[in-house]
Amino acid sequence: MLYLVGLGLHDEEDLSLKGLRVLKDSNKIYAEFYTNFFNGNLENIEKLVGKKIEILERADIEEHPDEKILKNSIENNTVLLVPGDPMVATTHIDLVLRAKRLGIGVKIVHSSSIYSAIAETGLQIYKFGRTTTIPFMEKNYFPTTPYDVLGENLERGLHTLLLLDIKSMENRFMTVSQGIEILMEIEEKRQENVFQADRRCIGVARLGGSSTIKAGKAIDLIKRDFGPPPHVLVVPGKLHFMEEEALSEYQ
Ligand SMILES: C[S@@+](CC[C@H](N)C(=O)[O-])C[C@H]1O[C@@H](n2cnc3c(N)ncnc32)[C@H](O)[C@@H]1O
Repeated sequence: MLYLVGLGLHDEEDLSLKGLRVLKDSNKIYAEFYTNFFNGNLENIEKLVGKKIEILERADIEEHPDEKILKNSIENNTVLLVPGDPMVATTHIDLVLRAKRLGIGVKIVHSSSIYSAIAETGLQIYKFGRTTTIPFMEKNYFPTTPYDVLGENLERGLHTLLLLDIKSMENRFMTVSQGIEILMEIEEKRQENVFQADRRCIGVARLGGSSTIKAGKAIDLIKRDFGPPPHVLVVPGKLHFMEEEALSEYQ
């Protein structure tokens, strides 16, 4: 059996009692931290369950999962710990499907996620449009999808959650300032008035822990230091007066 267990938003205290029971009953525990930054301490979980946790890299899960995690799941109760909710990541459904094809049973233990916690900003969760990720730009890699998605959502009056890229192997976690800078660079090239300097945004860091939420113009937020990761950026669409009131708390 393969269990995907969510670690929750911030640290080991976000692990559910159900997750803890599954860990205690398991024969092998893996964890991955390439889909999100984890602010907790794995050793505390190891002490609690009396087992070692092996950290897997992206390639162990996405390129050759049969070598470790799937091989173990055929005969043993095997766990993959994932920060946040395990299914709020585009990649883990692939592992689930591969396991099922091999006749391995799969169970998911859901957990707290940026997808629901973002409502702490006061924005109505039902009024968010498509989510997008701002990737680190490279010399020959400058995708403008986040700008396009933002433009579509704004046209429909919807809010946009812009996840910020993570390169955990290189210890690089995109900041709110870097995300704003990239969107401004695209605006400069495209000039479609999607992300001008006075565009209202909300910078958010470490939700569920020592969180910081600040609302303001892009040009002002870009100068703010939001502290340690993870960070996320929100661009509000059309605001209800209650949302306006909630946001005024974060000016
Ligand atoms: C690919 S998503 C994975 C989401 C995770 N599975 C979940 O359910 O929360 C990772 C991105 O979400 C955002 N994020 C996740 N947790 C966060 C938190 N506690 N505070 C701020 N941003 C967060 C960051 O932009 C991070 O790069």
